[in-house]
Amino acid sequence: MASLSRSGVFSDGMDRRLARFSESISFDHRLYKQDIRGSVAHARMLCRQGLLQNEEFEAIERELLDIERVIDRGEIPFQIELEDIHMHIEQTLIDRLGDVGRKLHTARSRNDQVSTDLRLWIREQLDRVDALLLELQRAFLKRCKIDQGVIIPAYTHMQRAQPVLAAHYWLAYVEKLERDRGRLLDCRKRVNICPLGGAAVAGTSLPIDRHYTAELLEFEGVAANSVDISSDRDFVVESVFVLTMISEHLSGWAEEWILWSTTEFGFIKLPHAFCTGSSIMPQKVNPDTLELTRGKTARVVGNLQTLLVLIKGLPLAYNRDLQEDKPPLFDSFDTVMACLELAIPIVEQTELQPDVISAKLDQGYLDATALMEGLISQGMPQRTAHHKVGALVAIAKSRSVSLVGLTEAEIKSVDESLDSTLRATLGVSGAVQSYRSFGSSNPERVAEQIKRWEKLIQLD
Ligand code: ARG
Repeated sequence: MASLSRSGVFSDGMDRRLARFSESISFDHRLYKQDIRGSVAHARMLCRQGLLQNEEFEAIERELLDIERVIDRGEIPFQIELEDIHMHIEQTLIDRLGDVGRKLHTARSRNDQVSTDLRLWIREQLDRVDALLLELQRAFLKRCKIDQGVIIPAYTHMQRAQPVLAAHYWLAYVEKLERDRGRLLDCRKRVNICPLGGAAVAGTSLPIDRHYTAELLEFEGVAANSVDISSDRDFVVESVFVLTMISEHLSGWAEEWILWSTTEFGFIKLPHAFCTGSSIMPQKVNPDTLELTRGKTARVVGNLQTLLVLIKGLPLAYNRDLQEDKPPLFDSFDTVMACLELAIPIVEQTELQPDVISAKLDQGYLDATALMEGLISQGMPQRTAHHKVGALVAIAKSRSVSLVGLTEAEIKSVDESLDSTLRATLGVSGAVQSYRSFGSSNPERVAEQIKRWEKLIQLD
């Protein structure tokens, strides 16, 4: 079949090797619903502007909607000679309507068409990702109730640092996910702009109404420069950046919970429905979902790199390189959504192991900072208190006892003015109670934050 893009200027048909090299139908068929929606809106606008007769528009709309149903059923054979989804749909329309079908492409080019399809597709997918992020936030928030009162060690440099409430920890993830949602919403604004009617690069001499098309497609604005329209893929890169940050968060979380599920940590028990076994070691319950989350998100980071390099050397305006934006774009959305869909039940169903955690809570001198702050509030300069508590920790370590286990004589050996009354600030729950600042792990502050989030994300 002759390609729609080969005008009378060509003397030869396309070499089959080029057809194979340049086709995108094998991946951009995913845009068929958006392509048809864009075409119906475009045709309706053409009709309103007197560029199509009423009966012509009605026939085009009827056939396009039927073509959509045929593609839904998988009944349109895709062929590389027709390159991409835009030409498959238009050719099918022409096969059905003849000259009337040949009018659809009036005052548009595939350059503004593909940008329209992509924007419509991304807009939908962003909304789906946002819904999943919200569900994951809710899963973490629900955990705050389940794990109420549990104290866990927080780490810096992967070394035990200070005790915090498990709920405080879960809310850290809720915060990260909220930033992801904010980025997504912001990015959506720039996605939600209508390029249709920009045509190839300069606009058109035909009397179209781009604002009407934009309204029909529920875009929030109309892109104002046809050269920019033809070249712009910022919105693709930006969406994948948003997905990359989500991936970074998911991957860090997965790594953490893989560690926490080890015998060495034993902090959590992962739901068996999301673990796999070993074919040779019968005792194994492997955290494959989390490992694959860590592994698959690597591809999203790579996709962002691919897109950045793809556009960095392109002069204005449309260049065929841009066709290569779709595989990394689709893959990023697919991957992040698949990871989020599994993260939600894992966060909901994982069981924290408070007994294992509390059995080791007095190890690692988690209360040292609280003790130091206790001395500061009695008037000791911070640097002095820091040094003296360090010396107390050294003595305790040498005897393998906790700070509470120090004798009066040992305490006095560090500083004559100290005595065992400093014990009041020791122990992990004392430390947690002693926090005061906004954003700290103090139980009252954490309860306030839980309330705030319950309001914000409407947990019943
Ligand atoms: N398949 C093409 C793409 O994804 C559609 C636009 C083609 N435009 C062109 N001038 N050849 O970029």
